[in-house]
Amino acid sequence: MVHPAQGQMVQDLAASDLGAPPSRYVLREKDRPAAAGATQAQPELAAIPTVDVARLADPGDVGVGEAAGLRSALQSWGLFAVTGHGMPEPFLDEVLAATREFFHLPPEEKERYSNVVDVDGGGGEKFQFQPEGYGIDRVDTDEQILDWCDRLYLQVQPEEERRLEFWPAHPPALRPLLEEYTLRSEQVFRRVLAATARALGFDEEFFSDKVGERVATYARFTYYPPCPQPELVYGLKPHTDNSVLTVLLLDKNVGGLQLFKDGRWLDIPVLTHELLVVAGDEIEIMSNGVFMAPVHRVVTSDRERMSVVMFYQPEPHKDLAPSEELVGEERPALYTKLKAKDFGDGFWDAFAAGERTIDFLKVKVEQQKPEAAAVSS
Ligand code: OGA
Ligand code: NI
Repeated sequence: MVHPAQGQMVQDLAASDLGAPPSRYVLREKDRPAAAGATQAQPELAAIPTVDVARLADPGDVGVGEAAGLRSALQSWGLFAVTGHGMPEPFLDEVLAATREFFHLPPEEKERYSNVVDVDGGGGEKFQFQPEGYGIDRVDTDEQILDWCDRLYLQVQPEEERRLEFWPAHPPALRPLLEEYTLRSEQVFRRVLAATARALGFDEEFFSDKVGERVATYARFTYYPPCPQPELVYGLKPHTDNSVLTVLLLDKNVGGLQLFKDGRWLDIPVLTHELLVVAGDEIEIMSNGVFMAPVHRVVTSDRERMSVVMFYQPEPHKDLAPSEELVGEERPALYTKLKAKDFGDGFWDAFAAGERTIDFLKVKVEQQKPEAAAVSS
């Protein structure tokens, strides 16, 4: 069954010149972007750390320099801007331009890639939502408050898992650009993952072995239409990512991404040639909480905004559990073991419910002695 609200693209709503967002999008007062930090009229700009990925590749850089910076960035922020990613600025501009072109196509063209599919196939009209494709995120209930965004979601790796029927034919540049971006973004992911292991004193392969050779990579192209009353809605509700690490290419002109840190929301600055790397739930579990996935959200404005986000997930059959080397008497396992696939499936239920997957699936171990869990590594 598909919820009736599933078919309403936000972009079409925004184009219909309404004075205010429909009630399905309007947040309860306490959740509204301005209310969340009542003392802050204008959220502060976050002074996020920067990591040079080119320097991370140097195996001599163990525990010092960039690798140490990476560890502290991940521990205190859970995210960082990335320089040295090797992608020329015109290339990144092309990726964003093709994304914009796709979302600016007529609705009927985009709907060819709809995430609501006819599972019957025979005209019996048994429609079903599935994550891949174009549309809005999954709607489960009448009460669910919807985000002010549309998205195109595609699995890009492993290559054999691609469902090309969801890959837009227009603009023609989008597909080759996505193929190229997939390869280059994976290099950023692999380097950061290797350096993350080294920064903890492990071999480069420490985390990549647990994740597997054939990482599951999903690309999310999100379009945030201009909103008539941005203070009433979320572009994307507060969440942590379903990933080991996430690599984000953000709109160069319009900000909107915010990070929850030390009890308040901070604006992530607009990045012009850097990418952003964010720690996801899976690295939080694998690191036994040494690294925490940061809660973040997107707020809207009177301008359209876009992002292209790559989520790197373990091979589905892999166990997701705190690494034994990071579990001891001082620091018991803070999370239970489960299959990467079960965690990934749970993400969509949790996301629709507005909860963290870790809480929704009760992955946290009940601690007998909370003071033991507080010991930092
Ligand atoms: C996400 C996300 C941020 C953005 O897709 O998980 O956090 O700026 N996106 O679009
Ligand atoms: Ni996110």
